[in-house]
Amino acid sequence: MSIRIAGTGSYVPERILTNADLEKMVETNDEWIRTRTGIEERHLAADNEATSDMAYEAGRRALEMAGIRGEDLDAIIVGTITPDHVFPSTGCILQQRFGAEGAFCFDLEAACSGLLFSLEVAHSLMKANKRYRRVLVCGAEKLSCITDWTDRNTCVLFGDGAGAVVLESSDDAAVPDCLIASDLHSDGSYTEILKLPAGGSRIPTSAETVANHQHFIHMAGKEVFKLAVNAMVSAGRQVLEDSGIAPEAIKLVIPHQANSRIIHAVAPRLGVPEERVFINVNKYGNTSAASIGICLDEAARGGLIEHGDYVLLTAFGGGLTWGALLIRY
Ligand code: UT7
Repeated sequence: MSIRIAGTGSYVPERILTNADLEKMVETNDEWIRTRTGIEERHLAADNEATSDMAYEAGRRALEMAGIRGEDLDAIIVGTITPDHVFPSTGCILQQRFGAEGAFCFDLEAACSGLLFSLEVAHSLMKANKRYRRVLVCGAEKLSCITDWTDRNTCVLFGDGAGAVVLESSDDAAVPDCLIASDLHSDGSYTEILKLPAGGSRIPTSAETVANHQHFIHMAGKEVFKLAVNAMVSAGRQVLEDSGIAPEAIKLVIPHQANSRIIHAVAPRLGVPEERVFINVNKYGNTSAASIGICLDEAARGGLIEHGDYVLLTAFGGGLTWGALLIRY
């Protein structure tokens, strides 16, 4: 039994926030943002638009490409750090909207690595139990609601959006499996350098936590930067080694889109030429778990990859979490 990528989809909200807009909000400038991050603009969800709304749009497009209906789904997994609610899960909300009555649904929290972790879990579930034949995997975030719009260190970095992938199993021996190698990691000794401090059971929400801006992303940028480069290079090299596939045979590297400087530091160390590295951080900023799904969908619909091509996905985020998947699109 093999599993293939039957469809991809993505969605970004309509509203665009440019670097020029940010210049009016905090002490920053377009040149600093462009040269330090590569970001030119980002999309922000409307006030009445939640993470599940964006995941629904991305998922709908992925289902359409796959040629299947919501009711055909056996599971829905949503990678997100900005669920609609603490509970019920965003996955359950999507189930209702898709009419996916037979699907079991849950959210997976691995920050910016959310889509990679979710794909690995979905693939493993499908291999373990043949009853799960069609699984919708989404990475979706409304980071604008956990961004401190008074903090120039972080507010220039993030955006909202969603990406989705439909995995489908096949009994046809001629269909090759989409997952060739994976290398996923976590390191809980770095929880302090990238976190949202309050609102959980450690520091419950109070008037004080709100006043102290503890419901926003806090990040030690420089430290995260260095760790991100090393971690993505190490995981990327590992999946190349495990698969025995040469870097020259990789059609496209899709790195998590946090900062173009990180991406430019990772690419040469994987031995893949720059022109085979996908970048759209300039348009969307860092959309956390949504980032790789948006890239994959843009690459597929834009004709940059075709079925059968080797694609290396690599991500890094809070937790810390990181890893790489080598897939056959
Ligand atoms: O997705 C999860 C993973 N996240 C990441 O991978 C993010 C990793 N980190 C980064 O991308 C970068 O570290 C940042 C883009 C966040 C920051 O870039 P940096 O080159 O590490 O800058 P810095 O934090 O060292 O700041 C340099 C200077 C500072 O001023 P001084 O102390 O040198 O006077 C900052 O105060 O730039 C200043 N600065 C800004 N200036 C204008 C910081 N933010 C801004 C800003 N506009 N928005």
